[in-house]
Amino acid sequence: MKHIVDLAKNRGFVFQGSEIYGGLANTWDYGPLGSLLKENLKNLWIREFVQRRPDMVLLDAAILMNPQVWVASGHVGGFSDPLIDDKNTKERFRADKLIEGKITEIVTEALKQNEEWVHLEKNMDEAGNLRKALQLHPAIYNQIITEKVLKKYWVPNQIPESWTPEQQLNFMKCEDVRNPNNPDVKADWTEIRKFNLMFETKQGVTDDSTAKVYLRPETAQGIFVDFPHIVRTCRRRVPFGVAQVGKAFRNEITPGNFIFRTREFEQMEIEFFCEPGTQKEWHEKWKVACKKFLMETVGIKESNLRFREHEKDELSHYSDWTFDIEYDFPSIGFSELQGIASRTDFDLKAHMSESKQDMSYFDPVKNTKFIPYVIEPSIGLTRLFLATLCDAYDTIKDEEGAERIVLRLKPEVAPVKIAVLPLVKKLNEKAEEVFTLLSNNFMTWYDETGSIGKRYARFDEIGTPWCVTIDFDNTMEKNMVTIRHRDTMEQEIVAIDDLVDYFKKYL
Ligand code: GAP
Repeated sequence: MKHIVDLAKNRGFVFQGSEIYGGLANTWDYGPLGSLLKENLKNLWIREFVQRRPDMVLLDAAILMNPQVWVASGHVGGFSDPLIDDKNTKERFRADKLIEGKITEIVTEALKQNEEWVHLEKNMDEAGNLRKALQLHPAIYNQIITEKVLKKYWVPNQIPESWTPEQQLNFMKCEDVRNPNNPDVKADWTEIRKFNLMFETKQGVTDDSTAKVYLRPETAQGIFVDFPHIVRTCRRRVPFGVAQVGKAFRNEITPGNFIFRTREFEQMEIEFFCEPGTQKEWHEKWKVACKKFLMETVGIKESNLRFREHEKDELSHYSDWTFDIEYDFPSIGFSELQGIASRTDFDLKAHMSESKQDMSYFDPVKNTKFIPYVIEPSIGLTRLFLATLCDAYDTIKDEEGAERIVLRLKPEVAPVKIAVLPLVKKLNEKAEEVFTLLSNNFMTWYDETGSIGKRYARFDEIGTPWCVTIDFDNTMEKNMVTIRHRDTMEQEIVAIDDLVDYFKKYL
């Protein structure tokens, strides 16, 4: 992860937010390359799930919504994390995350006593870390968890987030869970409180509490609230879906791991409305479609992706059934990249009851009225950005044996598609002509400084799939250029007149 963060910062993918003032914790700016990469991911997602499907439309709802929306959706009452303070240091933590850390420690200790440890250790070397070794041996893991956690503490599962505050505090006290930043001293923990993750702000000039509004914690509610308008105006019949891309905000207690978990992030969400009783069938279809998008369109390797079904106690308040697509993030391990939830009719029903508006759907063919069920494929755009960078990151040895980075992004995903490189500065006039031709069609950068080898390396590092070289023999004499391919390093001579068509085959 450190290599990814360094590359992102040094090459203009992601900068720390307001850095000249010392930064603001956990805020990130997407730089010249990062903003292009993010835009490409977003546009590919819209192309795949809106443009190419007759059963999908797009929406762009407001970030600020009537606060009643969040009462109905359950976010005012239930969108919270268990918060605990260490009175010694006045630091604040998520209790469930501290417990998860302790459980990993307990399992590690227990594993060392297990006779199969030798075998596990072998796998640990292969897999690189303990987490992976555990994932390879779920039976041993489950046995240890049952003995050392579930039976010992009378808790229903291994997901501390779903335990009661009393169960969480009891575990922390009995296991002497320490403050990770002050592990040598016994922590002086407070009680556990529920901390609502929604950011509050005030709308208008008055300072009274009735002006309180929230920054949306998910984009989904805009879709639910606008459902009747969409049905009326777009003449879509259920089953159909609505897609939306936009910012969401959560006052996460423990953000971190670079842009993996941030307080301000972007989501790409789909609410797919279907007839009650058909939700399982649609859920399966969306699982396939989402994985296909990640692999075939974004280019993420299948071996780094897996599905994980949520356990009953882990489900969000609106869901009867959820699958995550997890990505094997470096330093983090397999973690949620995308959720695909069966959201039932919870939201439309809740808004119908709160707003007293009719949110049901009338099927003109069957002459029936019902509240649709919803399948929700929801992915973090900024989290997908991180997965894409991690997955494309590769290193090779140059002729001198030094290691250098090659970002193997798919051409459609790459921020800069083509680099135009005059072999020497003297060729700049012709090179600028080629640049104008290409940049009218594709995101193209121009670079005339440094040796040609250094320039190739610079563009490999930011994932540019092609470099177009302008030279004396081919270009000035024959009106042709050399195209150098990033992944194979092969070179091809192509007529300038054919260049745009050449690249259009790929983009
Ligand atoms: N509407 C459903 C919903 O919001 P979620 O699992 O809380 O579900 C969906 O979020 C996706 O949004 C996640 O799979 C993740 O990719 C992304 N996401 C959630 N919280 C995030 C955060 N704090 N930072 C970055 N991405 C986040």
